[in-house]
Amino acid sequence: MKKKLAILLSGRGSNFEAIARAIEAGKLNAEIAVVISNRPGARGLDRAKELGLEAVCLPSRGVAREDYDARLVDELKRHNPDVICLAGFMRLLTPVMIEAFRGRILNIHPSLLPAFPGLDAQRQALEHGVRFSGCTVHFVDEGLDSGPIIVQAAVPVKDGDTVESLSERILEAEHAAYPRAIALVLSGAYRTEGRRVVRLKEK
Ligand code: GAR
Repeated sequence: MKKKLAILLSGRGSNFEAIARAIEAGKLNAEIAVVISNRPGARGLDRAKELGLEAVCLPSRGVAREDYDARLVDELKRHNPDVICLAGFMRLLTPVMIEAFRGRILNIHPSLLPAFPGLDAQRQALEHGVRFSGCTVHFVDEGLDSGPIIVQAAVPVKDGDTVESLSERILEAEHAAYPRAIALVLSGAYRTEGRRVVRLKEK
């Protein structure tokens, strides 16, 4: 049976589309069971519908964080996902979500963590003057962008970069990194040793 993914997003959904393309191209042996957005107008939600996927809007505005996560857990359990991918899901999860799916929630962040967690990571990188930034796919824990790192990719920061040009270069790296990280987690060929995600040799 194919492994099932749930995608959580809040906006554009280009990482979601990159995951969908990787599945389509046979690079990721999985299916997308559901796409959930906390924002009603999210473009990613419309794209999910266009692709014939189950697309659910669970608005978060005005809902207490734990209550929201309890609703999310209920909705996710109906779809029985193996892995939950946060793809531009702009909310910090509470223990209600983390404990329900511990070790099975992934996030992508547009910096080389632990540098520049939180909002506006690309702007933070530019303002700090780093020569390289990139993206990180990591397991989600209770902290802010703090869980064990699965995959990272570095991209150069060029003279004359703007937040937009750097974000675009990082986004391209994100689209390659996320499917790779998901494939590793679905394969089960890794072991977590403290903070380190160690790849196991192919059997
Ligand atoms: C991506 O750059 C992702 O790394 C970032 O939001 C963007 C979503 O784009 N996520 C975060 O900053 C999370 N802290 P997308 O909707 O086109 O995938």
